[in-house]
Amino acid sequence: MLECKNLKKIYGKKCVVNNLSFSINNGEVFALLGSNGAGKTTTIKMILGLTKKDGGEIIMHDGVKIGYSPDTPYFPPFLNGSEVLSYYADIQKIPKKESGEEIAKLLNTVGLEEDKTKIKNYSKGMLQRLAFAQALLGSPDLLILDEPTAGLDVMGRIEIIKLIGRLKEAGKTIILNSHILSDIEQVCDRGIIIGNGNLLGTWDKKEEHYGKSLQDIFIERIGGMRE
Ligand SMILES: Nc1ncnc2c1ncn2[C@@H]1O[C@H](COP(=O)(O)OP(=O)(O)OP(=O)(O)O)[C@@H](O)[C@H]1O
Ligand SMILES: [Mg+2]
Repeated sequence: MLECKNLKKIYGKKCVVNNLSFSINNGEVFALLGSNGAGKTTTIKMILGLTKKDGGEIIMHDGVKIGYSPDTPYFPPFLNGSEVLSYYADIQKIPKKESGEEIAKLLNTVGLEEDKTKIKNYSKGMLQRLAFAQALLGSPDLLILDEPTAGLDVMGRIEIIKLIGRLKEAGKTIILNSHILSDIEQVCDRGIIIGNGNLLGTWDKKEEHYGKSLQDIFIERIGGMRE
């Protein structure tokens, strides 16, 4: 579905994504792993065209519809959750008679009330849930989720990981950024480990890892824990 070849991004004099290549098959849940500042969000933003790449190629199947949940969601503070989704539905030109029902369903899916609470009074977890609902709007084929469980409470995180599993069963392709490696092991098929913009390793659930957990592999690739 998506192939990235020798992706490169330079900020100032610093190369933050360096000749990164990977491909994602239809129906896979694919993990982008790496420490803070490794280049995961930058890679996602290049795929989405939100930031210009300084080299490489991104090849995507024709007509792939993308949904995106950003790492730091921002919505107009004076709207409530339904109004935000309604605004995004308008942008997607989803007819009003269809969007009302879809919005109610999506709010319920992510565990938000259909109430009048304004975004400015949302907690971090509520914002994250709304961002997920926004990403699901219009039934995209490819979901790009940048730390969708950051800030969620314990049950919220479990629900969102279960939801990602259900979306996979429904045939969606998903790119997932997360630091919670147990969640990645549970829901992802494959992934790459990035360090300082470079590909440090790959992980495939189907492969034999000789009893090593993803955390073991991660620490090995990253080169040990920081002091
Ligand atoms: N707009 C920008 N201008 C300059 N440097 C940037 C910009 N955005 C990101 N960077 C730098 O690019 C590098 C990669 O950042 P990125 O946000 O992609 O990391 P990340 O892997 O998503 O980290 P995290 O796990 O903390 O979200 C960092 O060194 C960061 O400081
Ligand atoms: Mg990030």
